[in-house]
Amino acid sequence: MISYHYLFDSKILSIVIYKGNLNMIILIGGEKGGPGKTTLATNLAVMRTKETNDLLLMDTDQQQTASFWCSTREDNKVFPRVASIQKLDKAVRSEALALKEKYKDIIIDAGGRDSAELRGGLLVADKAIFPLRPSQFDLWTFGRINTLVETATEINDKLRAYVVLNQASTNPSVKEVEEAKSFILEFPSIKLLNIVISERIIFRRAAISGMSVTEYRPEDPKATEEMRTFYNEVFND
Ligand SMILES: Nc1ncnc2c1ncn2[C@@H]1O[C@H](COP(=O)(O)OP(=O)(O)OP(=O)(O)O)[C@@H](O)[C@H]1O
Ligand SMILES: [Mg+2]
Repeated sequence: MISYHYLFDSKILSIVIYKGNLNMIILIGGEKGGPGKTTLATNLAVMRTKETNDLLLMDTDQQQTASFWCSTREDNKVFPRVASIQKLDKAVRSEALALKEKYKDIIIDAGGRDSAELRGGLLVADKAIFPLRPSQFDLWTFGRINTLVETATEINDKLRAYVVLNQASTNPSVKEVEEAKSFILEFPSIKLLNIVISERIIFRRAAISGMSVTEYRPEDPKATEEMRTFYNEVFND
């Protein structure tokens, strides 16, 4: 965020310019449990709240993991507070549309299966991000994700869909990432983000403290760098 302050007729006039796209609904979803939807949603939520102070995290998963993370954050008095709400079923679509007027951005954390929440969210989202682990089991769900996106785009033509590889091995001898990339490129409706987020212990440590990896100390500079690149690809591209 860039702020300019002018002295005008003895009053301070503030002009605030936000970098990147404005008023976005970003859905983080998928068809499989555990690739990191809530982890990436909560990390993005902290970073966006720090930049604009105008973000709502909408937890639409019955497991309420994002809401528990928010409660832990509050209990541990980690600032800034991340505004959050829980919505299920048809309320995801209607509330996201209504709340879009009140918040600059909304991040929707959807559960790990094809659900009313995921489908409702896809109908209102500007961007859908699908985290996938670069393993064959996760990749097998990709065809169904692609179909969901194509169906949603028939109604929501502004929807842009992306996949981000998460929990990639840091062992250079593991070639799964390259294989996953070539597999994903066969689906033209979903774009592959450039960033590949590695499996790093700090993601789990930060999560149980109600923090993002960019806040947790001692810092893991590589994890911080990956999250910043991911954030820029989501909000500023
Ligand atoms: N890049 C990462 N490195 C290490 N651990 C990670 C990473 N991303 C996620 N995790 C861990 O993987 C587990 C699953 O993550 P998370 O709960 O975010 O997945 P999810 O997709 O939201 O799952 P669900 O489908 O149950 O909602 C958590 O323990 C989380 O801390
Ligand atoms: Mg989750």
